[in-house]
Amino acid sequence: MQTILITGGAGFIGSHLTRHFVTKYPSYKIVNVDALTYAGNLKNLKDIEHLPNYHFIKGDITDIKLIEELFTEHQFTAVLHCAAESHVDRSITDPLAFVKTNVLGTSTLLQVAKESWKNNFSDKVFYHISTDEVYGSLGTEGFFYETTPYDPRSPYSASKASSDHMVRAFYHTYNFPIKISNCSNNYGPFHFPEKLIPLSINNIIHNKSLPIYGAGENIRDWLFVEDHVKAIDIIYHKGKIGETYNIGGYNEWKNIDLIKELCRQMDIKLNRPAGTSETLITFVKDRAGHDLRYAIDASKLKNELGWEPSLQFEEGLSRTIDWYLNNKDWLEEVTSGTYRKYYDKMYANN
Ligand code: NAD
Ligand code: TYD
Repeated sequence: MQTILITGGAGFIGSHLTRHFVTKYPSYKIVNVDALTYAGNLKNLKDIEHLPNYHFIKGDITDIKLIEELFTEHQFTAVLHCAAESHVDRSITDPLAFVKTNVLGTSTLLQVAKESWKNNFSDKVFYHISTDEVYGSLGTEGFFYETTPYDPRSPYSASKASSDHMVRAFYHTYNFPIKISNCSNNYGPFHFPEKLIPLSINNIIHNKSLPIYGAGENIRDWLFVEDHVKAIDIIYHKGKIGETYNIGGYNEWKNIDLIKELCRQMDIKLNRPAGTSETLITFVKDRAGHDLRYAIDASKLKNELGWEPSLQFEEGLSRTIDWYLNNKDWLEEVTSGTYRKYYDKMYANN
């Protein structure tokens, strides 16, 4: 019997991960702890909330007393740690929130798990979900490998790098059973519309300008979120303790090209004349310290565990757009109130 603590399960990736584990493994008991920050939304899990192997607890991973109580009550056999502050732009305006959740929160979970498992680590695993941004920024050539030295350059990536270091420190110091994966940019349903793709979909729907930072030359490697979750499943079940695995889409896009492809697809889906949405593109002031390029070499994961991305980008993007068009009430709800204030503040001077 496995009892798994998923942290941040009400967020974008966390909700897909939670749904996947709850439905694919009915014999596992899944406990989702999420603080329900602006990025957490229980509506993301509406379809599974009634299932008997799923439990939700609203709580903060920096609250050591709560985390201790949960470990005592549920006797977790594993942790899938997804909770984080995740948006680079927010980390530039409020870095300490990132240090608190990503560094202190991760360290709190590690410490409580280590004590609760009483240094008897057989059949236990602490799986830390991380990002390729810890490796820094690439030039026009090359890839991030698992061995690439860390060189984080935003408060977000620095806080994730710090948390990765703490996870590895627990492995080396205490023989604590960890796994880490570092993944490239995800996209798909339930993605909060502060990130490039869902923000642009939302703005095209409402005929609002599409803010492209700098010249739009920055490159990201995009992976459909369900492919990320499948990789996590494989690493969780078959990956080696103490190992790190890179996960990527082999799917590099310049921001400007990606937005043009998005505009093309949305014109068709919205029955607008070709070229309509592209007129919304607006070049705005660049992000501070904007990393030029991320690109993952995921051959270790392919060679050792047999994972490869399953979905072509054009199809994944099409499915993503369809989801947003069919779930406008979700979009309306998450873009009302405080989101609107955030948006006005971030893009006011452009
Ligand atoms: P997200 O911002 O959509 O969701 C984060 C979730 O964590 C939210 O539900 C939020 O309420 C919760 N949370 C935040 N602070 C918390 C706290 N102190 N205690 C408990 N819960 C808290 O993020 P996401 O995009 O789903 O990313 C999930 C994880 O995957 C993060 O660790 C991120 O670094 C990593 N990651 C994301 C991407 C990506 O492209 N989005 C790529 C690679 C790795
Ligand atoms: P984002 O979705 O924030 O992910 P990350 O910064 O973690 O890669 O941004 C993806 C790329 O899109 C990044 O190069 C910044 C750029 N971007 C814009 O040009 N305009 C925007 O409004 C946003 C949110 C991002």
